[in-house]
Amino acid sequence: MKGIILAGGHGTRLLPLTKITSKQLIPVYDQPMIFYPLQTLIEAGIKDILIIMAPEHAGHFLNLLGSGKAFGVTISYEIQDTPSGIAEAFLIGENFIGNDDVALILGDNIFEDDFSLVIKNFTEGASIFAKAVPDPERFGVVELDKDQQIISIEEKPQKPRSNLAQVGLYICDNSVIKKAKKVEPSARGELEIVDIIRAYLYEKKLAVSLVKGAWFDCGTFESLFEAGAYRRAKLECLSSD
Ligand code: TTP
Repeated sequence: MKGIILAGGHGTRLLPLTKITSKQLIPVYDQPMIFYPLQTLIEAGIKDILIIMAPEHAGHFLNLLGSGKAFGVTISYEIQDTPSGIAEAFLIGENFIGNDDVALILGDNIFEDDFSLVIKNFTEGASIFAKAVPDPERFGVVELDKDQQIISIEEKPQKPRSNLAQVGLYICDNSVIKKAKKVEPSARGELEIVDIIRAYLYEKKLAVSLVKGAWFDCGTFESLFEAGAYRRAKLECLSSD
């Protein structure tokens, strides 16, 4: 299993913080944001990781993460010229993925959960993850039946059918590259990840698991602050043990 961290984007909701740097390089308490998804992949057992970043911040990512040796992994880098959608990660990463399966994590998603078992037991199709939230209309919303099978996925619906937000981690088999090549830009001009997820759903090869621990999407001042406060409380708790 290869790992990709998608760390480009506009970061407009965090302006002016993101005027001169990448959202994923902003501190979340004591670490740059990208350390968190990187640790999630490393703790899940992934050793070969691609960082996809915007050209204007490429040097900073290289300075920060280097070859990956300090983290015990191999890190490669690719540029996303413009933020054309999450699904583009599988096209930019085509050579890197090769014939392997891939776990894509968004660079602004912070998890406190262990995905190593899901990754170890992964065989085919796609596995996505969901978390109950108070404001599902901000996210992709997953609707499940009584057997925990997915009935629908809707992108930022006005009337959400559940409170389950789809989080920014996608584990996909190698057919994701073929699927990504078929995705057409949406009305907002992006290659949407939901189109790939729907293709797996159509093939009845889509699994969903609930995130058990904490999850933060650090795209807003509020969530960035909450994530930092959570990290601080966790470190305090660890140091008092
Ligand atoms: P978003 O938070 O949806 O977008 P953004 O980071 O551009 O922020 P804003 O909406 O405030 O302008 O992106 C989620 C994550 O995916 C984030 O880590 C950036 C990354 N991303 C890319 O790297 N490239 C892309 O084309 C898109 C759409 C997102």
